[in-house]
Amino acid sequence: MPDRDVFRAPIGTRDVLAPESDRWQRLVATFASHAARAGFGLLVTPMFEHVEVVQKLGGTTDVVRKELYDFDDKGGRRLALRADGTASVVRAFVQHRPLLPWKVWYVAPNFRYERPQKGRYRQHWQVGVEVLGVDDPALDVEVIALADGFYRALGLERYRLAVNSMGDAASRATYRDVLVRYWREHAALLGAEMERAEANPLRILDSKRPDWAEMIAGAPQVGDHLTPDARTRFEQVQAGLRALGIPFAVEPRLVRGLDYYTGVTFEFASDALDAAQNAVGGGGRYDRLVQDMGGPPTPGIGFGIGIERVLIACDAEGVFAAPGTTLDVFLVDLVGGTEAVVLAEELRSAGFATDRSYGGRAMKKQLAAADKSGAPFAVILGPAELAAGSVTVKDLRRGEQAELPRAEVVAWMHARRDEAST
Ligand code: HAM
Repeated sequence: MPDRDVFRAPIGTRDVLAPESDRWQRLVATFASHAARAGFGLLVTPMFEHVEVVQKLGGTTDVVRKELYDFDDKGGRRLALRADGTASVVRAFVQHRPLLPWKVWYVAPNFRYERPQKGRYRQHWQVGVEVLGVDDPALDVEVIALADGFYRALGLERYRLAVNSMGDAASRATYRDVLVRYWREHAALLGAEMERAEANPLRILDSKRPDWAEMIAGAPQVGDHLTPDARTRFEQVQAGLRALGIPFAVEPRLVRGLDYYTGVTFEFASDALDAAQNAVGGGGRYDRLVQDMGGPPTPGIGFGIGIERVLIACDAEGVFAAPGTTLDVFLVDLVGGTEAVVLAEELRSAGFATDRSYGGRAMKKQLAAADKSGAPFAVILGPAELAAGSVTVKDLRRGEQAELPRAEVVAWMHARRDEAST
């Protein structure tokens, strides 16, 4: 590979620089505060797991069949980079057996060897939550409402919530049989994929192949095969969403691309994004996954929200803009030595975001840098001021300046901040 390609972020990955990274930070902080208000604690898990953990996303899914970043480490262990948050959370649950219910949130990168395009990356970030140990439709509603409240807090409006139910074990078994029979009727069209259709009939439903569209449109729907229990439960979730005034549509074809889902599933799609990758978040129940990883039977539900996609949607809707400067003050140092070093630390210790220029550049250049920094105030340390034990303070927005004793700079900044907040 030529150098110019080597020393670049690998295809499908991105660097996030300021001020975009400030927006990331604010997005994560917003999510964290919503999650904390709903009683969730942060969970941090490793970036890689034993491959078997990640494979729990489903042997017939694209994520596991084609997109895993798996490798042998130097000790000969087969590992895989995390492909979603859920598998790691469940693995951590099985390992630590925390008290139930266990409510966690996370922010983490995920790795899938996808074909990169806008909104689809090989490394993408998710914020998400998982709850283990509660089998109550009231929780399903709360989890969906948490995601919805987060999008609203960012200012997003042009998105739709689709919900579906995969039913309980009995519903799924019936539906599976009905679906396999239907695929067999279309074996010629399915060709080599018939094997996958037999192994996991649901997977064919989320295919985007245009030549299958008609066949998929005519396929039996899971909603027609729910047991009375599963139906009642799904209705309770819908009633809860209505009670909260959260608009939604029942989408019988929503099966989601991962195998572990059991009851209610949901997806948020943004109308501001291209249809092929308009999902800004999704999730659902997975009541067997803990057991599948060797834990006791424990119900689970959660969602993951793609940070990059949410930010693209924010741009398209013109909301949640990157913040302007976060600086309070800029130091112009015309004397060198340690004067500016000491004053900068004094201001920072007092809680003011402080930047400065270095290297004794000309006053004009330093003032231009101060203007460019976006800080509302500059403090100028000049030779005359130094001799007089004073500094010049400048309000960069109003263009006014004044000289004051060096010892009063911090108090002066406090007064400006108080003024600004009244
Ligand atoms: P997922 O639907 O695969 O679900 O991903 C969740 C969200 O991550 C998507 O809605 C999308 O916003 C974002 N996303 C997924 N893949 C990419 C990609 N290649 N590039 C950019 N963004 C992407 C899960 O991962 C489940 N773990 C969600 C869940 C949690 N279910 C239960 N609990």
